[in-house]
Amino acid sequence: MTTATARAHPNIALVKYWGKRDEQLMLPAAGSLSLTLDAYATTTTVSLDASAAEDRFTLGGTTATAGQTEQVVRFLDLVRARADSSAHAVVDSHNEAPTGAGLASSASGFAALAVAAAAAYDLDLDRADLSRLARRGSGSATRSLVAGLGIWHAGDDDASSFAEPIEGPEMSMIIVTVDPGQKKVSSREGMRRTAATSPYYPGWVDSTARSLEEMSAACRAGDFTRVGEITESNALRMHAAIEACEPPIRYLRSASVAVFDAVEQLRARSIEAYATADAGPNVVVIARPADAAAVADHLAGHGDVRIVGAGPGAHLITTEESA
Ligand code: PMV
Repeated sequence: MTTATARAHPNIALVKYWGKRDEQLMLPAAGSLSLTLDAYATTTTVSLDASAAEDRFTLGGTTATAGQTEQVVRFLDLVRARADSSAHAVVDSHNEAPTGAGLASSASGFAALAVAAAAAYDLDLDRADLSRLARRGSGSATRSLVAGLGIWHAGDDDASSFAEPIEGPEMSMIIVTVDPGQKKVSSREGMRRTAATSPYYPGWVDSTARSLEEMSAACRAGDFTRVGEITESNALRMHAAIEACEPPIRYLRSASVAVFDAVEQLRARSIEAYATADAGPNVVVIARPADAAAVADHLAGHGDVRIVGAGPGAHLITTEESA
């Protein structure tokens, strides 16, 4: 029996992924770019069990829901097909993020699962291959294979859609949790509805492809200001496209908008900070590391505030063979 343990961190996109052009292969409508964090890791152990009749999945020490287990089984099926194996597995996963911290545990979760499962089933995959594999579990997981800043090339087939590192300015992220509750509409459903009903969806996809080019150039030039400006406008464009759905979806609440206002106040005082938000009410602010503490102080009244930085890509911790 082979057992492998891997660890991965979530990432926050500066140019967002929102919409698929191929649901089966999980190819995105446009590329995206993110920072992998140094906090809130997921640690996952995959143990093959040749005598088991089915896969088992525990999350935080308790049996996962049927829906969560189904996603993991579907992912393991892909790995088994590649490894030409029929062995079932026991998957045990632990998230360091407090439940409802507003951080996508799907990114760290599927990145850690991809690395641990590939090792347990003895697949010889490089980092780009693992990024492609993680993509099949959750789009944002594609980027958690990369340390620090990573660009996910949209690609036009399985082989060309993966993430790789990109140089950029140093930055901190200030995570402002305004509402620790679960989001009401999943990103999967939100993306489907935006693509199907938002009149702004084509504009979102076109402008994101352009923003990604501009963002890559700003990163390579080490231009923090331009990186921040593109980050904030890309996030607001995503939410504008989402809010124009039918029936509408609003992930941002008034408390979220108040953080965007507070960030604008900081800029008026010459502290450069820029806000972004994923498919939920919590806001992530980017700042130069030297300004992070001042930004966090200014935002303290808006919710739980935590400063994080760039972290490692998903990696294997141990593999073990036992009888
Ligand atoms: O792949 P998912 O289901 O975690 O979707 C990610 C969607 C956003 O977090 C809103 C954007 C992104 O690029 O991470």
